[in-house]
Amino acid sequence: MRPKMTAGMVGMGMIFDDTYRPFFEAVARQGLQDRRFGDVDVQLVAVATKTGSRAERYQRQSAGLIPAFENCAGDSAVQQMLKHRPTFACVATPDNRHFEAAREILEAGVYLLVEKPSVLSLSELDELTSIAERRGVLARVVYHKLLDPDHKKLRTLVADNVLQHVNNGYCSLLEPRQISGQQFSEWITGRNPGTYVAVHYIKLIDFTFGGRLKTVLCTGQRGLVGPRDGNTWDSCQLRLIYEYEDGREAAFDIHTSWVTPDNFPGYVEQEVQFRFDNGIWNGHSRKRGVELTVDQLTPLKLKNTINNHYNGSFLEPWGERAQRGYGIEVIDRFARETAWVEYGGPAGEREQRLQQIRQLSYADLAADRQVVAAVEAMERILEEQAAGRPDRVARYDGHTIRLC
Ligand SMILES: NC(=O)c1ccc[n+]([C@@H]2O[C@H](COP(=O)([O-])OP(=O)(O)OC[C@H]3O[C@@H](n4cnc5c(N)ncnc54)[C@H](O)[C@@H]3O)[C@@H](O)[C@H]2O)c1
Repeated sequence: MRPKMTAGMVGMGMIFDDTYRPFFEAVARQGLQDRRFGDVDVQLVAVATKTGSRAERYQRQSAGLIPAFENCAGDSAVQQMLKHRPTFACVATPDNRHFEAAREILEAGVYLLVEKPSVLSLSELDELTSIAERRGVLARVVYHKLLDPDHKKLRTLVADNVLQHVNNGYCSLLEPRQISGQQFSEWITGRNPGTYVAVHYIKLIDFTFGGRLKTVLCTGQRGLVGPRDGNTWDSCQLRLIYEYEDGREAAFDIHTSWVTPDNFPGYVEQEVQFRFDNGIWNGHSRKRGVELTVDQLTPLKLKNTINNHYNGSFLEPWGERAQRGYGIEVIDRFARETAWVEYGGPAGEREQRLQQIRQLSYADLAADRQVVAAVEAMERILEEQAAGRPDRVARYDGHTIRLC
């Protein structure tokens, strides 16, 4: 009989539909194979959500595509899901509701995959890291932009010293209004687009260029999603300052918004520019090469500039329908890492395999510390601004954050 990994899922919103759903459907069809661990079955056995209604809808839609799963809802949904003793569980709840579910999962000795931003404070991160250590399981976080071929190329050029010493850069990621107005209306109060999407670029910068985060500055605007003097933000401008081993510094500005008009030409408008001692990298999601216009469909139902690399639905040349891209690849990769730890060799060497995967810092929770420090600092500065004390600066010494 084939070995089997079972999975739990917490939260079934937009990102579940985009990436987890196609992953579970593909793996139910074709299994998970690798010469290092063989042919492993992967099955979604239970899901935990707030109300159970989206899960119920997906139970109907997925009949025949994946085996039946239990729909757990309400306050004890995660505990109910964990009664199945899944091999791993994924957390895709709103940004500020990752920690509780992640803690329960790790305490149960279940491997964890949590959406970005992993958690919102260093104390939460340290607690999860130590539980994962004690329980001997992986705790991983999803940053799919690290798997974007453009970003892999950037990192390759940096690693090979073709691009030398980053000096500064900027990134922007603008979401349409429907995200703040409709999709996230249940949890938008008190939230900001920086935590939600700047975190993609914080990770890209941290992982690609290394260095030590030392200073965080941030400001933001209000008045569209919530009151102009409240703590719900329309847009944010974040600045990070890093220091490198040779004592030189770099500064990065990251601008985000979730109030951009719905009829702009792409799903998200993303742009980066990084400047080096000897070069410059310009990336623009609208310049991936495709511009599409269809009467009555673009730009609202279909977008003019489509990202076919993240998560696209295709008719394959051999006639099959498929949904593929780096957003799904990152989840597949986690499942392979888990399968390798569990089945990739003698049980007595499981601990070595576990440690080896933990060294892959692109997704390890312990390696997310500087990113979480930047997020915590940003949230604390915005809180101060909302309380009438704007323009605070956060200093990070590698352990704690101090607001000046
Ligand atoms: N990797 C990416 O690029 C990417 C893209 C979008 C979202 N995300 C992240 O994924 C997470 C979810 O985002 P989304 O867009 O799917 O949000 P969403 O609002 O569409 O869905 C949230 C889901 O969580 C469930 N939920 C809410 N509170 C819960 C609780 N306490 N316990 C259990 N379930 C609960 C809701 O029922 C819903 O199913 C966020 O942290 C977000 O930052 C990542």
